[in-house]
Amino acid sequence: MIETFELTKRYDDGTIALNSLTMKLDSKISCLIGRNGAGKTTLTRILSTQLKPTSGKAVINGYDIERDRKTLRKKITSIPQEAKPMGIASPLEHVTMYLTAKGMSFRDAVREAKVALEAVGLGEVIDKPTDELSGGMKRKIFVAMAISSNTDVVFLDEPTTGLDPISRMEVWSAVREIRSKILLTTHYMEEAQELCGQIAILDRGKLRGLGTVNELLEPLKGKVRVEGMGDIIIGKTRLSYVDKTKASELLDKNVTLKPITLEDVFITMGVEIES
Ligand SMILES: Nc1ncnc2c1ncn2[C@@H]1O[C@H](COP(=O)(O)OP(=O)(O)OP(=O)(O)O)[C@@H](O)[C@H]1O
Ligand SMILES: [Mg+2]
Repeated sequence: MIETFELTKRYDDGTIALNSLTMKLDSKISCLIGRNGAGKTTLTRILSTQLKPTSGKAVINGYDIERDRKTLRKKITSIPQEAKPMGIASPLEHVTMYLTAKGMSFRDAVREAKVALEAVGLGEVIDKPTDELSGGMKRKIFVAMAISSNTDVVFLDEPTTGLDPISRMEVWSAVREIRSKILLTTHYMEEAQELCGQIAILDRGKLRGLGTVNELLEPLKGKVRVEGMGDIIIGKTRLSYVDKTKASELLDKNVTLKPITLEDVFITMGVEIES
């Protein structure tokens, strides 16, 4: 369980990245979504005790992030957004070193590392120097660390950004196998929809929505997305949302009809939808 109470982060230059954020997440896998700069990484860094909040508090499984910082550190794994492994150490060496540093015996670490690297689709390159791997492969080494870490809580900040669709699915199934509670940040709406019991939508440091996929889809229930006409304009795309019952009237127009997904919830936040 992750709880925050009026959590606020004001960086030295005055940027308010988190603005009195209060929320409770208790799913096995919870997701953070929100536009660039919404405060997701700031929140993840604070929860994983790498950054101190300006005010407010947060409690993870009963441990206060400030008071119980030392204890909590042993119970969490955090994979930062920008993390990239470097050097000539192989994926197997990277994950093994990580696990032994966490206290696992060398033999167990090698075994667990192999299982995790296989699970994320790196089975064929476990011994290859990391600097000879592709960007996505490097990213997956970190996912393998998270999978094998076996801590109570795992924070994954955009684990699948830049991965091809098949790799992304490999990571999804690997993430589902993690026994820990997970807080995952993503810009892929289908990923949040696919994996997460609860989804928190952040916007300029505030919570704009929190719920299951179905709860978040509720305001758009019974509607379809119409592309090619309408009043929501994003770049050159014109969008509209109409009742399913009225959709047949649009078939002879030059438009595309699509079922509602989490992406539509995201796009229409703060926009009045006519019924
Ligand atoms: N070290 C810092 N100093 C000053 N401002 C910062 C710092 N780190 C982040 N910010 C600002 O805080 C806000 C939130 O940033 P954050 O990285 O938490 O967003 P994010 O939701 O993770 O975005 P993205 O989806 O692009 O990763 C942004 O306005 C950003 O410019
Ligand atoms: Mg971020």
